[in-house]
Amino acid sequence: MVSIYQLSIFLVFAGLASAVPHSKLQKRDALPDYAITYAPLSYLYSGEKWFPSDIKTHLENVQPEVNYVASGGSGSVTLDTLSTYASDVYLTASDGPILNPLNSTPAWALSDYGIPDSTGLSTAPGTIIAVEKNSTTTDVFYFYFYSYNYGGTVLGVNTDDHVGDWEHVMIRFVNGEPYAIYCSEHSAGSAYYWDVVTFDGDRPITYVAYGGHANYVTAGSQEYTIALGLITDHTDAGYLWDMTLNYRGYWYDVDTAEFSVASGAGIGASEEADETATWLSWEGQWGDEQYPDDVLDDLETGQWCISTECHYTSGPTGPVAKNLERTTVCENDDSCTIFDNINDLTSQS
Ligand SMILES: *[C@@H]1O[C@H](CO)[C@@H](O)[C@H](O)[C@H]1NC(C)=O
Repeated sequence: MVSIYQLSIFLVFAGLASAVPHSKLQKRDALPDYAITYAPLSYLYSGEKWFPSDIKTHLENVQPEVNYVASGGSGSVTLDTLSTYASDVYLTASDGPILNPLNSTPAWALSDYGIPDSTGLSTAPGTIIAVEKNSTTTDVFYFYFYSYNYGGTVLGVNTDDHVGDWEHVMIRFVNGEPYAIYCSEHSAGSAYYWDVVTFDGDRPITYVAYGGHANYVTAGSQEYTIALGLITDHTDAGYLWDMTLNYRGYWYDVDTAEFSVASGAGIGASEEADETATWLSWEGQWGDEQYPDDVLDDLETGQWCISTECHYTSGPTGPVAKNLERTTVCENDDSCTIFDNINDLTSQS
């Protein structure tokens, strides 16, 4: 027989439990099942040369530099020390200006080790970050990392090559059901209602463009303009990459701006087990700083610029700088259209 006293104790504890913020309870929890069930299946281009890379391997081949001056040797930065570095640090290739066309691109930058096998497994772990926006809406970010970005050519001129390349696809879930998908594409990205994209079973198909690794929901030619003119991205069903087979998983708490480790899979899971999530808070750049454009340096680095477009540009910032807090489904909250036709693309600048 339960006394009134016991019952009231029970009610007090039940009340306390439900008062604990949901997001706190989820720290260190596994990613939600729907993050994996509906994860994108991505196709790298059949002629791709710069493959998915493990961030751990990337760090082993760079050194921290500020204003082109090294402050530590090759491989001195690890995932667990990264957040102790200032945001003006560039993780610079320790082989020297590897972008110099006179040098051959080193193996770690080409990352052939990351070429997916016939099952879609790449030995380079992806990074999956779940962000709970409120009790109904959770955004799951699928981050793709490449040690090298080849910018392609416009009017026969190669621009925008850089070390390090962070790209992402985001799926917004409402009450555990996929609602829309966003693909990062150069300076912008395109969003689509869930039902309109192409699927393999439950999973949406995305395509990764040659060299620059922009993400699209269709195969073929994708055109956008930069200052010099029209650039065409190329996508096709070349190499299937199924990130769910190998990834590091995390939660990001919008209120505290903190990352925590969730579950992973494959090599990503075993590497993640020995790591913290602090590297995700680092706001610096994952590649070389844009080489200066002057005659003497150009001989060494191969840099040149036409108008605002340069052969070599700076490495990118990481996931923390990709507006994980977004309220719309787009990285740019000020201009976000969710398309209901997969052939629509957001214009680039
Ligand atoms: C939850 O967050 C999303 C994204 O910011 C927003 O669109 C939605 O209205 C919010 N829902 C509630 C119930 O607050």
